[in-house]
Amino acid sequence: MGKVFVNIGLSLDGYMAPEGMRMDRPDHMNWGAKWGAMMGWLLRQQHFRENVLKAGPGGETGPINDHVRSTFERIGANIMGKRMFDQGEVAWPEEAPFHTPVYVLTHEKREPWVRPGGTTFHFVNDGPERALELARASAGDRDVRISGGADVVQQYLNLGVVDELEIALAPVLFGGGRRLFEHLHAPGPAWRIDRVLDGPGATHLRYVRQ
Ligand SMILES: NC(=O)c1ccc[n+]([C@@H]2O[C@H](COP(=O)([O-])OP(=O)(O)OC[C@H]3O[C@@H](n4cnc5c(N)ncnc54)[C@H](OP(=O)(O)O)[C@@H]3O)[C@@H](O)[C@H]2O)c1
Repeated sequence: MGKVFVNIGLSLDGYMAPEGMRMDRPDHMNWGAKWGAMMGWLLRQQHFRENVLKAGPGGETGPINDHVRSTFERIGANIMGKRMFDQGEVAWPEEAPFHTPVYVLTHEKREPWVRPGGTTFHFVNDGPERALELARASAGDRDVRISGGADVVQQYLNLGVVDELEIALAPVLFGGGRRLFEHLHAPGPAWRIDRVLDGPGATHLRYVRQ
């Protein structure tokens, strides 16, 4: 069985997204620019541009790009929350940047949504444990990525099923937004630092559950 890992970007002050996200106005409260300041490093990597985003050739190479490649190659299935999905449904290209089954935790009942390029969104109404069971079954020997948002990451941390916590900590302050570390039941000293990789746009931290 593969691992379960969280892989997200984070502002220096601990937010997964700045305040003020609106579907109808992506630039409300400068949201898009703030998001870009946090995640721009990823959008510049060759592997992400060519193989995940399918944005054409080019991009940065080197240790951060190698890290991005190995991250995407290990993923057999993704799990995400409905708010992340809602945002992506209007923003992602037709070939959504996952290329695996994606299990969306939601109260909404909806048929699977098949996208070109190997991404199928499955809408799961039976809670995080069931979504993980389905994701593990599709992933086989590969790993399950908890993609976000904060609400969903917190649920999996609280279930104690996250093996690795990967955070790309960007040198940007949001001052408010969707905080990653809240609503945690037992945030004891359960993690050890496994790896730190420096990049110009973010520090890539990996924590492994002890
Ligand atoms: N920094 C990063 O790397 C990163 C990654 C991903 C997302 N994000 C950002 O995170 C933000 C969204 O995060 P969020 O914490 O607000 O929301 P979220 O985790 O994406 O989604 C929460 C929603 O999912 C549904 N849901 C969650 N758990 C459920 C359960 N157990 N059963 C049924 N439904 C469940 C509920 O929606 P319904 O009741 O409507 O179904 C809930 O309101 C976005 O702004 C996105 O841009 C950042």
